[in-house]
Amino acid sequence: MNQLQQNAAGPVPAIHTLNRRTFMMTTAAGAGAAASAATGTAAETGSAAPPSGAGSHETRVTINGKPHPLKLEPRASLLDVLREQLGLTGAKKGCDHGQCGACTVHVDGRRVASCLTLAVKTDGCAVTTIEGIESADGTLHPMQQAFLDHDALQCGYCTPGQIMAAIACVREGHATSEAQIREYMSGNICRCGAYTGIVEAIREAAPQVLRMEGRMEGRRHA
Ligand code: FES
Ligand code: FES
Repeated sequence: MNQLQQNAAGPVPAIHTLNRRTFMMTTAAGAGAAASAATGTAAETGSAAPPSGAGSHETRVTINGKPHPLKLEPRASLLDVLREQLGLTGAKKGCDHGQCGACTVHVDGRRVASCLTLAVKTDGCAVTTIEGIESADGTLHPMQQAFLDHDALQCGYCTPGQIMAAIACVREGHATSEAQIREYMSGNICRCGAYTGIVEAIREAAPQVLRMEGRMEGRRHA
């Protein structure tokens, strides 16, 4: 398990021991745990514990390439199942109402707000979260690397959702200009206002992401 995976899955080193670069790598890789631990958003620290999503409805979902036979509560959101049942805490709960984009994941390659997606509706689908986009050898996805290179985050809470939306934005062909990127990323809110860096990161990473996706598509049809 590399450092980024450890941070995503478990305790984060005390902030005062981190320099800015280390902190940025931690958050951009989807951990966000440092931010949520430090800031304790209302959604995550509210008095009512979120539902785990466990129930009796049998569902088979492939998550980050691995099949998961699950027994789900029919009204559980995909976000709650990922976070509470599977421990995949990269996708963040911001508004829980489809308004902030912090919970963005991919279902069959398309971006969705996982807080508004019933987990049972993903039966038979492939779900990708921020934890599933780096290479098997631990190399960051080009979009993750570009976010680091452009300091496209401050607290990092919105960053996993921003990165998943950014990859989809490129995939959809909506990253050909700054104006287009701003338009098609407008569903993802950054309360720190890191938008300039986010746009620069997407512009820089777009060609590499398209090449990567082209190679993957070629392999699928080989
Ligand atoms: S938490 Fe899903 S859109 Fe805000
Ligand atoms: S970096 Fe803080 S909310 Fe976006």
